[in-house]
Amino acid sequence: MLIKPDKYKNTTEIVNLNGVPVYLPTLAEAAIRGRLNMFLLGKSGFGKTQLVRDVMNYFGDRALFVLGRNDMDTRELFQQVNPEFLKALKEGKSLEGKTLKEVTDKVNYNLIAVDELPNCVPAVRAQLFNLFDGFIEINGKPYPIGNGYSIGLSTGNLGQEFTESSNELGRALKERMHLTLDVDFLRPQTIDFYDMLEDNLDPRVNFPDKSLEDRIEEIKKAYQKLKGRPVPFEKKVIGLYLVDGLDCLADDKRKSELKSSWHTKVEGHEAGSDVALIEGVSPRALKSIITLSQALDEITEEQGAKDLNYFESMMTAFKFCSAYSGVLNDALVRQTYDENPYKAMDAVIDTTREQFKAKEEYLRAGLEMARRGEKKKKISDNFKGRWKFMKDLLENLADRTLLEKRAHGKKD
Ligand SMILES: Nc1ncnc2c1ncn2[C@@H]1O[C@H](COP(=O)(O)OP(=O)(O)OP(=O)(O)O)[C@@H](O)[C@H]1O
Ligand SMILES: [Mg+2]
Repeated sequence: MLIKPDKYKNTTEIVNLNGVPVYLPTLAEAAIRGRLNMFLLGKSGFGKTQLVRDVMNYFGDRALFVLGRNDMDTRELFQQVNPEFLKALKEGKSLEGKTLKEVTDKVNYNLIAVDELPNCVPAVRAQLFNLFDGFIEINGKPYPIGNGYSIGLSTGNLGQEFTESSNELGRALKERMHLTLDVDFLRPQTIDFYDMLEDNLDPRVNFPDKSLEDRIEEIKKAYQKLKGRPVPFEKKVIGLYLVDGLDCLADDKRKSELKSSWHTKVEGHEAGSDVALIEGVSPRALKSIITLSQALDEITEEQGAKDLNYFESMMTAFKFCSAYSGVLNDALVRQTYDENPYKAMDAVIDTTREQFKAKEEYLRAGLEMARRGEKKKKISDNFKGRWKFMKDLLENLADRTLLEKRAHGKKD
């Protein structure tokens, strides 16, 4: 592990992947390696800011800490990022002979930590989200920061006073935060609180005792290595099921075409199944899910795992990327799953596991068929309803293989 929180303690095992226990800090590390923005949600006093502080320690002076306040405007934010920006805003282009680009090039933050992000007014938040994504916008022009690696880490409680409707805020967060960890449902063990007391009784956020060397080069290297990690075909199929399979209703109708009223259109036996509980994830979310799953595989591999279970790491990633992303049917989460979106995700994951188990044999045969550039009705006709995407995929792949074979044949 690259990152081990110094003060924040949480030894609750979230899942066991490939024989390796995964804890909340493991998920945080996976997010950092995958360069995924992370939002920590949950009740006051449960260590969210503490975890952020602990993570910041690994970024040395390349971490910017911003406390979200509703009386902060973008000017003040610019002032915090780099005082020279204010001049730039006033003067337009040049600053004492330097161009704006020269100034922004020096803004070398790799981690933007925003405590209590929901308190920020929308204009400030928009700028913060840009920083999370690796650039700053001045006078309508984007300037890159952080030399190729920047990540956002933010916190917030649900009961916070919002400066706008929580809906609007929710939408903004869902778009820009790639995974959400709700510490209320990922509660530490009693022994963790016991250890916290052994450490000290200061109720403030603790600054780590030892000043660590910053690990930015290692983090960047881990990120580059992860980007080069081949994505197994199985993961792509699982991911496409999450995008296309979960988007299906009976009679080949699509939830996405029914817009926000999709859950009122689920009828008959589908009403009691995962069809009513979740809609398909977006292609953007799919990228985050696969990235997180790849990071989890890599971390468990480094801890000795040999046989990687792609399905399970994909499901863990799906759970933490999608529980708060707006794909779940909120009314059902409230009524049936004790307002716990992770519990609802577990139900979806159980069904997904059954679905893949039932199709296991056909999936193997289908892949073999596509590899040979063949289309056998006997095999592809097994993919119907929510699995129709697989039939289309296999046929397209078979066509491609055939074309490649022909092109090859001509050359030879
Ligand atoms: N799991 C934990 N491990 C170690 N310390 C903890 C843990 N949970 C809380 N603490 C301690 O409790 C205090 C409060 O934590 P912190 O300020 O991080 O809470 P918070 O979740 O950010 O609350 P708020 O939502 O009010 O900002 C700190 O001293 C912190 O070190
Ligand atoms: Mg806090």
